[in-house]
Amino acid sequence: MNITELASNRFTTKAYDASRSLTEQQIADVLSLLQNSPSTLNLQGWHFHVITTEAGREKIAPAIFDLNKTKVADAPLAIVFSSINGISEQHLDDLVAQEEQDGRFRDAQARQKNDAGRRGYINNVAHSPEFQHKWMERQLYIALGFLLLGAPALGLHATPIEGFDTHKMDNILGLEAQGLHSVVMATVGYNSDADFNAQLPKSRFPLDKIITTL
Ligand SMILES: Cc1cc2nc3c(=O)[nH]c(=O)nc-3n(C[C@H](O)[C@H](O)[C@H](O)COP(=O)(O)O)c2cc1C
Repeated sequence: MNITELASNRFTTKAYDASRSLTEQQIADVLSLLQNSPSTLNLQGWHFHVITTEAGREKIAPAIFDLNKTKVADAPLAIVFSSINGISEQHLDDLVAQEEQDGRFRDAQARQKNDAGRRGYINNVAHSPEFQHKWMERQLYIALGFLLLGAPALGLHATPIEGFDTHKMDNILGLEAQGLHSVVMATVGYNSDADFNAQLPKSRFPLDKIITTL
């Protein structure tokens, strides 16, 4: 399937086949979609809790709203997307060190220029805690989009999930102590015959309602 067919054929999975598991390779492929997602200034201000065991599913279950409980209970993979509570000096140090390790800089001057440019942007445009909070949360939705399009490309079905109690999830996962808060989730696996959404036609506003060409 090409990318436009994937985009128009993908759908939100409403029921999973609990008897079908994912291989280690399939899970790794899904996680690499998250790892390779772009983020502003390459900040990657995110963390993903990956749930693949019965114990993990039971642990997060109290935070899941009723409409999603069965999906999370039956899907072989659930992911909680969290964002960092603020952009620390340590985070910026780690980031430039990673970029150096990954061969992004020709020399020390290039490294310094990159680091100073990123810090300058943050100090000038994105210094307030409120801005950083929203800014980092927005990045998670890019990773979610990568997963939603990438899962069907891998032959898998997925569900984006905002229907959970983020405060309960933060407590269950001890996120505050990790400088994180949860924002959104996704489940991945294979759908079941009970997945009514798989049979329904897609519904979207027409292009002339959502697009203005200048
Ligand atoms: C950020 C986000 C959160 C969503 N949360 C839920 C959810 O909690 N439970 C659910 O069943 N569907 C959820 N959905 C699915 C939407 O209802 C669905 O994407 C929309 O109706 C379009 O249908 P489609 O994904 O099948 O094309 C969510 C979608 C997005 C993008």
